[in-house]
Amino acid sequence: MAMRMINAAVIGTGFIGPAHVEALKRLGSVDVVALCGRNPQRTEQKAAALGVPRAYTDYRKLLEDPDVEVVHNASPNNLHFEVNQAILESGKHCVSEKPLTRTTAESRRLVELSREKGLVNAVCFNYRFYPLSQQAKAVCDAGDVGEVHAIHGSYLQDWLLRETDYSWRLDPEVSGDSCAVGDIGSHFCDLVTFITGRTITEVMADFQTTHRVRKRPKADLEAFAGKMLKLEDYEEVEIESEDLASVLFRLDNGARGAFTVSQISAGRKNRLFYEIDGAKCAISADLERPNELWVGYRDKANESYVKDPSVLSEQAQPYAHYPGGHPEGYPDGFKNLFINVYRRIAGESDVDNFPTFADGHRAVAIVEAAVRSAREGQWVTVGY
Ligand SMILES: NC(=O)c1ccc[n+]([C@@H]2O[C@H](COP(=O)([O-])OP(=O)(O)OC[C@H]3O[C@@H](n4cnc5c(N)ncnc54)[C@H](OP(=O)(O)O)[C@@H]3O)[C@@H](O)[C@H]2O)c1
Repeated sequence: MAMRMINAAVIGTGFIGPAHVEALKRLGSVDVVALCGRNPQRTEQKAAALGVPRAYTDYRKLLEDPDVEVVHNASPNNLHFEVNQAILESGKHCVSEKPLTRTTAESRRLVELSREKGLVNAVCFNYRFYPLSQQAKAVCDAGDVGEVHAIHGSYLQDWLLRETDYSWRLDPEVSGDSCAVGDIGSHFCDLVTFITGRTITEVMADFQTTHRVRKRPKADLEAFAGKMLKLEDYEEVEIESEDLASVLFRLDNGARGAFTVSQISAGRKNRLFYEIDGAKCAISADLERPNELWVGYRDKANESYVKDPSVLSEQAQPYAHYPGGHPEGYPDGFKNLFINVYRRIAGESDVDNFPTFADGHRAVAIVEAAVRSAREGQWVTVGY
C-alpha cells in the first residue's frame, strides 16, 4: 500500500528551517506546503528557492491553513513556547527545535498540553539519529558496556570567539538565561542520557562570559551583504550570558560526569565529543567524525566501528542508508529523526522512537539547574 502523503509547514527561514525542509523532501511521504518567516521578502525568496508553494509572515495565519497537518517550529527560542502552544491548540502535530522552551514552567505546560491533545510532539535532538549514536545505544542496551561509571565530554565551537561576533543566542530575552549550555550543552546531555538510559540528577556549573562587552552590527547582517563592516557599523552591548561553561554532574545510578561547552574554541566548529566508561568497556565518539565509534577494552585490543550497515546491530541498521565508505552526517540525522516522527503521524508506528516534549523538558530542566548552580556556586538538584 502506498504511504499516505502528509502536508507539513516549517516556521523559520534562517539556518535550520531550510534544513528541515530539505530533510522532509527526502522522506517521500511529506509535502512541505508552507514556509513562515518574519521578513516578507526573505521568506518569499527562501520559499521559492526551496520549492515551497506558500509563504506566510504570520504564524497564526499559517495555523489557520487547513491543508497543514504538521508544523515544524525552527524559530528563535523566545518563540518556542508561544508558537508550540499555538500549534498544538490548532490541532496540528508539532516538531520543535531545541531548546523546547526557555523555562521549565513553560516546558512542563507543553508536555501537559501535548498529552491533553493527543498529538505527536517531537524535539530536534538530531545527534541521536547518527547511525553510530544508535549503535552506541544498542551496545549499551545489550548490556555490553555494563554498569555506567562515568561520562565525560565536550561540545566546542568557535563562532563567538571574537568580540565582533554576535547572535540572538547571547540575548537572554530571546535565548533564555543560558547561551552555550542551553544551545549546545542540551544536545550533549540529551545524547549521553539517550545512549546510556541514565538520568542526570544533580549539576555543579561554572560559567564564563569571555567578552562582557561585544560589538553588535547595527543592522541585520544580511543588510551588510557584500560590504566590509566598519567600526561605525557596530554598537556595543553588555553581555550576561556564558560562552564557556564546565558542568560536573551526577547520574541516577551514582555515576559521575563532566562536560565543557564552549563557543570560543578556535578551530573547533561543531565538535560534540563524548566518552562513556562502563564496567565492561568504554564507548566514545567525536561527532565531527560521525562515521566512527570507538570501543575501549582493558583486556583486549580496542575496536573502532566505521559506519557500515553490515557491521551494525539490527537496532542501528535502519539508520544507515548508504553502504560502508559512503559517509552520512548532519542532514541525514534530521532525515532519520523525521522518518520516525512521520511514521508515528501516519499511524504506521505506535512508539515514540524520537525525542518528545518530555525529553525536551528534561533538557530544559538540566539547563535551568546549571544556570542556578553557576549563580549560587553550589550543587543543584535538577527539578524535572
Ligand atoms: N538541532 C540543531 O542542530 C539546531 C541547529 C541550529 C539551530 N537550532 C535551533 O533552531 C532554532 C532556530 O535557529 P537558527 O540558527 O535557524 O536561527 P536563525 O538563523 O536566526 O533563524 C531564525 C528564523 O526565525 C525567523 N523568525 C523570527 N521571528 C519570527 C516570527 N515572529 N515569526 C516567524 N519567523 C520568525 C527568522 O525570520 P527573519 O529572518 O525573517 O527575521 C529566521 O528565519 C533555535 O531555537 C536553535 O536553537 C537547532
